[in-house]
Amino acid sequence: MTPLLSVKDLHVTFKVQKQLLQAVRGVSFDLYEEEILGIVGESGCGKSATAKALVRLLPAHSSIISGEVIYKGQNLLTFDDHKMQKVRGKELGMIFQDPMTSLNPTMKIGDQIIEGFLHHTKNASRKEAKAYAVQLLELVGIPQAFTRIEQYPHTLSGGMRQRVMIALALAAKPKIIIADEPTTALDVTIQAQILDLMQEIKKKTGTSFILITHDVSVVAGYCDRVIVMYSGKVIEKAAVDQLFARPSHPYTQGLLQSIPRLDMSPDQPLIPIEGSPPSSMGSIAGCAFCSRCKFATDLCRKEDPSLTEIQQGHKLACWNRGSDGSVN
Ligand SMILES: Nc1ncnc2c1ncn2[C@@H]1O[C@H](COP(=O)(O)OP(=O)(O)O)[C@@H](O)[C@H]1O
Ligand SMILES: [Mg+2]
Repeated sequence: MTPLLSVKDLHVTFKVQKQLLQAVRGVSFDLYEEEILGIVGESGCGKSATAKALVRLLPAHSSIISGEVIYKGQNLLTFDDHKMQKVRGKELGMIFQDPMTSLNPTMKIGDQIIEGFLHHTKNASRKEAKAYAVQLLELVGIPQAFTRIEQYPHTLSGGMRQRVMIALALAAKPKIIIADEPTTALDVTIQAQILDLMQEIKKKTGTSFILITHDVSVVAGYCDRVIVMYSGKVIEKAAVDQLFARPSHPYTQGLLQSIPRLDMSPDQPLIPIEGSPPSSMGSIAGCAFCSRCKFATDLCRKEDPSLTEIQQGHKLACWNRGSDGSVN
């Protein structure tokens, strides 16, 4: 199967006090049609920098040092601003954590969706666009959509605003939606509703999602495949079922032990991962996880393991693999 989007060896740096911070250190992944791909990892591991690089919304003090983002046979990283503006929204939609930074507070929600639709849809009338805006708001579960389109963002609850954000991202009918911690600011019930909604949209419209989260339980319930990031790198990649059946990187195992799971006995303790990731300033010797890893050997401290297939569709970057591919 040909991927819809292919990210190859992406490197992103930020300039911080005249030093280079390596935020993304060679990330590669594919996104296929009609799938929800999760990107999971603790805060600061480079998830947002990766997402922003894909849509080229990184701040001025950052650089994409190298890599490719292949979409429809073209490398988006070679596009100029004008070409990129046509891709953003229309081909790659975005949903961020805080809707108030993306919604225009001075514009009615209906008008924002109508504008998004008209901007990317040639020859459509305003009447058509309005009907579509109502349809989209209904799709994302906003009651009385016909009257709600007249409201301003500040009059809506956090959950409703996030739904409007999703409608706005869908307005130009993008093939891919990149959702960066879309539910982190919401309470658990609303979070589940919004994530259910994404799955429903995937089924109804065929849109693919890149769902970025620090919460591995979100990945479990909603993603088809997952990549686990640590210190700017992908350290494990698998189908969701594979990852949960056989988490193979000590970091992934740690992540899973740090959240409550249904198959746990009630008295089983949750174990946080001790320590913190190395500084991203300059280069990191060996495996970035080795200082926190109870299996670390001299080799781990010297050389960085590359991502290697341990089972069909399951890749792992760890030296400490048993003959069956599992970490022992
Ligand atoms: N605007 C910025 N300026 C400087 N450093 C940044 C900026 N944004 C992120 N970083 C740094 O880049 C690394 C990756 O950050 P980020 O991609 O935001 O992580 P995540 O989304 O996984 O929490 C971190 O070390 C973070 O401190
Ligand atoms: Mg982030």
